[in-house]
Amino acid sequence: MELLEIKDLGKRFGGLQALSEINLSVMKNTVHAIIGPNGAGKSTLLNCIVGKLMPSSGSVMFDGYSLLGRSAHEINQLGISRVFQTPEVFGDLNVLENMLIPCLAKRDGAFRLHALKSIDDEKQLREKAEDVLEDMGLIDKRHMKAASMSRGDKRRLEIAMCLAQDPKLLLLDEPTAGMARADTNNTIDLLKRIKQERDITIAIIEHDMHVVFSLADHITVLAQGTPLVSDTPDNIKGHPKVKEAYLGETQQV
Ligand SMILES: Nc1ncnc2c1ncn2[C@@H]1O[C@H](COP(=O)(O)OP(=O)(O)O)[C@@H](O)[C@H]1O
Ligand SMILES: [Mg+2]
Repeated sequence: MELLEIKDLGKRFGGLQALSEINLSVMKNTVHAIIGPNGAGKSTLLNCIVGKLMPSSGSVMFDGYSLLGRSAHEINQLGISRVFQTPEVFGDLNVLENMLIPCLAKRDGAFRLHALKSIDDEKQLREKAEDVLEDMGLIDKRHMKAASMSRGDKRRLEIAMCLAQDPKLLLLDEPTAGMARADTNNTIDLLKRIKQERDITIAIIEHDMHVVFSLADHITVLAQGTPLVSDTPDNIKGHPKVKEAYLGETQQV
């Protein structure tokens, strides 16, 4: 069953057609990887999904709702949480305080939208945040300022901040970029576990093919703003169109 369905999506920046004719379905409870060379339009696509950018054409449906014209906050309320390409934690706040922000956004947003969920009190929010930190192996660092964490731990915190919202769809933009190999492998294990233990769908933009082939059930290759191929990892491996997309880059597929 499709959780996210993108049809004929296009995005122009002035004279630049950054995305065109994007047709893509992300199936429920799968990991869908979006790969492609730098400048292919991967982050722009993600920004169009989460309401950071308004597409120039096309439609985006999520779980029965159209996402077009909705604010980033509303889209988050519908069950999409995302980790952007550049870490977005508040360095001067500690780990637990950072965790409370998405918990509050979820609660107060739910209040504003008159959702049926009951309103938690602060203690419940803290308990929720601590549960997720425990699960993510960050509980001992809850009083640490986020600025003093390693890049790997910051990423882990960002993922924890998303999971605290119990999203239906988790979007990750290059979660392992700039990470040491050990941290990358930890992130792979973590995402595998999240997928196994939660009712969640993950769409991941990723450059590291080791990560892609360790996690993905389905891979879409973008080049120059349009999907070249969308298929299973086995069929993507060695696909001539994939090699063509990366011509001039060192990336091996
Ligand atoms: N806000 C913007 N304004 C103008 N051009 C942009 C903007 N964001 C991205 N682009 C351009 O759109 C293209 C796709 O960029 P991006 O989505 O960041 O690629 P990727 O994430 O695949 O590396 C690039 O040519 C980039 O320069
Ligand atoms: Mg990008």
